[in-house]
Amino acid sequence: MVQVADILKGRHTGESVELKGWIYRTRTVGGKAFVVVRDSTGILQTTIARDSVPADDFAAVEKALIESAVTVRGTVTADKRAPGGYEIRVTSFRVIHFAEKFPIQEDLSEEFLLDVRHLWVRSQRMTTIFRVRHTVFGAVHEYFRDQGFWEVSPPMITPAGSEGGATLFEVDYFGRKAYLTQSWQLYAEAIVLAMEKAYYIGPSFRAEKSRTSRHLTEYWHAEMEQAWVGLDEVVKHAEAVISHACQRAAEERPDDVAALGRPPDFLKAVKPPFERLTYDQALKILKGKGMELEWGKDLRTLEERALTEGKTKPIIVTHYPRISQAFYKARDPQHPDLVLAFDVIGGDGVGEIVGGSERETDLETIEKSLVEQGEDPKKYEWYLDSRRYGSVQHAGFGMGMERLIQWICKLEHIRDAVSFPRTPARASP
Ligand code: 4AD
Ligand code: MG
Repeated sequence: MVQVADILKGRHTGESVELKGWIYRTRTVGGKAFVVVRDSTGILQTTIARDSVPADDFAAVEKALIESAVTVRGTVTADKRAPGGYEIRVTSFRVIHFAEKFPIQEDLSEEFLLDVRHLWVRSQRMTTIFRVRHTVFGAVHEYFRDQGFWEVSPPMITPAGSEGGATLFEVDYFGRKAYLTQSWQLYAEAIVLAMEKAYYIGPSFRAEKSRTSRHLTEYWHAEMEQAWVGLDEVVKHAEAVISHACQRAAEERPDDVAALGRPPDFLKAVKPPFERLTYDQALKILKGKGMELEWGKDLRTLEERALTEGKTKPIIVTHYPRISQAFYKARDPQHPDLVLAFDVIGGDGVGEIVGGSERETDLETIEKSLVEQGEDPKKYEWYLDSRRYGSVQHAGFGMGMERLIQWICKLEHIRDAVSFPRTPARASP
């Protein structure tokens, strides 16, 4: 059995092969049928002449509707007229399953395509994105493993959140309250005193009601935490892991990213260092563009858009005001009203791809911040032990995998970066 992508690379030219797949498009002209077959790697034309296959086979070809499952045998031939430059001249065409009339035809609404997502995942657009996603996930694992990080898996069911109560999903845990994880944050800070350099990729959950093109309620989160280092070291890892994912996508999947509208050369140029500014510098630039943002307010989509306008690499903003930030972020010793935090911001409306910081190590400061943010420090007792027994400088970040894929693939909406998106409006199929 062969795969379409290998045929299109010229690896089977002249050979007699067997291809398994599904009918993507079909058309019969006189005594000849042109059936485009798709598999997980692409689409390929097969041509079936009435007199070169058994009579039953040709009858089946004429009857089969799109999405019927087929096994095709024949000879691979280079032919300029075929899409992709190759076709199979068929000697046997077996229909394994005759599909009913497929509900997805042309010009359907986004809503309908989300209703039939389980069928839309077969589209060329979705399978192309899945292949890039596969490569990007592999690249992120590869980066952290090569850099000496241990993969450690935290729980998904947790007793308390780390990113604020507003976006916590509550779970009825045998009559007690528990929450779906927003981040491995609290666990990472316990683990890092054991493993020193740790990372993981897993799901995070945010009960975000905001319906935007960059928010999911369930997303995949690549997180890292490192002991004995501060802000600068983890910013460098953030730049390097994004760059590595871009390089791999460009090398391994040049045709796929190009088909999605992202030239491979654009991705190849995404190399460290990224442009860096402080929050205060960002406000000045925005002011220069006629956009006043009150000091202390978080950057919103329109400000992020303005800052990344015309940039071909993501940018980094550091040193945010402490008031808008989570309790675990370290104060800047030079400016106690700032935290040693950073975001990596991508263009094309994707916005924040990475958020991270150095962590506060002073027990009393964290306890105070928890109270300020309306949390009960008692619920965080176990976490605070990381500041009681051998506390050391440490820092880390979280990267939204769908945001990264959205940026790499130049997707208008984040939902297409994942197979079955979870948004406020839908949790099915
Ligand atoms: O900025 P966030 O909330 O940071 C944290 O959770 C830290 N505890 C991470 C850490 O330091 N270990 O989230 C991190 C990243 C964001 O930059 C964004 O890329 C992604 O997670 N993200 C989302 N992606 C999709 N949909 C959402 N609703 C997201 N919320 C955050
Ligand atoms: Mg953030």
